Amino acid sequence: MSKTSRIPGFYNLSIEERLKKIAEYAELNENEIKLLQKEGNLDFKTADLMIENVIGTMAYPFAVAVNFLINNRDYIVPMVIEETSVVAAASNAAKVMRRDGGIKATTTGPVMIGQIQLVDVKDPWYTRMLILEHKDEILQLANEQDPILVKLGGGAKDIEVRVIDTPKGQMVITHLIVDVRDAMGANAVNTMSEKVAPLIERITGGRVYLRIITNLAEKRLVRAWVKVYKEDIGGEEVVDGIVTAWAFAAGDPYRAATHNKGIMNGVIAVALATAQDHRALEAGAHAYAARTGRYLPLSIWEKDKDGNLVGSLEMPMAVGLVGGATKVHPLAKIALKILGVKTASELSEVMGAVGLAQNFAALRALATEGIQKGHMRLHARNIAVMAGATGSLIEKVAEIMVRDNKIRYDYARELVEKLSKEGEADKN
Ligand code: MEV
Repeated sequence: MSKTSRIPGFYNLSIEERLKKIAEYAELNENEIKLLQKEGNLDFKTADLMIENVIGTMAYPFAVAVNFLINNRDYIVPMVIEETSVVAAASNAAKVMRRDGGIKATTTGPVMIGQIQLVDVKDPWYTRMLILEHKDEILQLANEQDPILVKLGGGAKDIEVRVIDTPKGQMVITHLIVDVRDAMGANAVNTMSEKVAPLIERITGGRVYLRIITNLAEKRLVRAWVKVYKEDIGGEEVVDGIVTAWAFAAGDPYRAATHNKGIMNGVIAVALATAQDHRALEAGAHAYAARTGRYLPLSIWEKDKDGNLVGSLEMPMAVGLVGGATKVHPLAKIALKILGVKTASELSEVMGAVGLAQNFAALRALATEGIQKGHMRLHARNIAVMAGATGSLIEKVAEIMVRDNKIRYDYARELVEKLSKEGEADKN
C-alpha cells in the first residue's frame, strides 16, 4: 500500500493514536517511538491543548545568563536556544555592562495597532475624513469588546487612517491604537478590529477585507542604552573596532541582517524561555529595521568624548505576561519567576537589554579574535559526541581537534577509535 499524508480525522485522535499512525507512516523504530512518548516538563495534556495534531514534545536547552544589571536591578535571564556560545556571550557582555547602574532601558508603553483594510471607495481621502469624524463611536464600540482591559486602564485609545497605494488601487487603512497593558495583545486587538469593521463599512459605504494586528509594533518600542568603559574591554582599539563593525552594518543591508541576527539571538532566546510569540518579534524587528525603505541595524555603536563605547538600541518588543502560552507552559512560568519581572514592559526592557548585550558580544568577538575561536571549542565537543565520544573522552577529543585546528567528523572518529583503544589497553 502506498503511503498517504491524507489522514481524515487525524486531529480527533489521541496523542497515542496519532503517534501510532505516524510511526507506521515513517517506519519509526522502537527507540524513536519511546523518545516521542517521553513526557517532559510540558505535559502531553497541556501540549495537546496548545496546538493541533500533537504527537509529542521537544526539549531544548534551558539556560540562564548571569551578570545582568538593568536599570540598577539585578536579573538572572532564562534563555532557551540551540546555538552554542550565545548564553556565554550574553553573560560575558553583561559583566562589562554593570557600571553606572548597568544597562538602561525604557519602553514607550504596551500599545499595539490593529489594521482594518477598506476597499471599493471612489474618494479615499474624503473617506479618510469620514472615518476620523466617527472616531469616538469606533473607539466606544472597540472598547465594549473588552471591559476588563478598559478597567485595567487599557483599551482602544485612538485611530489613525491612512490612504495607501497598492497593485489593486488605493485602499483606506484604519489603524486602531490599543493599549493592551500586560498582554501581547493580538487577541484583544484582533477582536476589536473585527467588531469595528462593519461600523467602518456603514460609515463609508466601502468594503472591509482584512482586520488584523500589525506586527510592525512601532508604538511599542523598547529603548536600551549602555556605556562600556574602554579599559574594561581592551582599550580604545577595541572600541574603534566595534564602531567600525557597526558602521559596516549601517552601510550595508547584507551585514545589517547578520548584525540584527546577533541581537535576535538574545531577544528570541528569552522569548522562547518565556513562551512569547517569537515570530511576531522577528517580524516586528525586521520590519522596523527597514522602515525607512532601507534595512538598517537596530542598534548604534559610537565612541564618546572620553573614548568609551556607547551603544543604543530601539526596536518593537511586543511581549506579554497574560494570555497566550506564557501562562500555560509550566517552564515559562518558572522562567518568569527566575527573571522576576512584574509587567510586560519590564520584560521588554530586559529583552532589549539582552539584545544590546548580545550584539556587543558578537561585535567585540568579530572585531577582535573573530567569532570562530569561542564557537569552535563547543562545536568540537558536539562533533566529538557525534563521533561516538562519551564521558571524559568528549573533552579529550575536542581538545585535540581544537589544538590541531582540525574540527572534523572524520578526525573525531579517528581520535575516538584511537583513544578508546588506548583506554582499553590501559585497563588491561
Ligand atoms: C551568530 O549567531 C551571530 C553573529 O553572526 C552576529 C553578528 O555577526 O553580528 C555572530
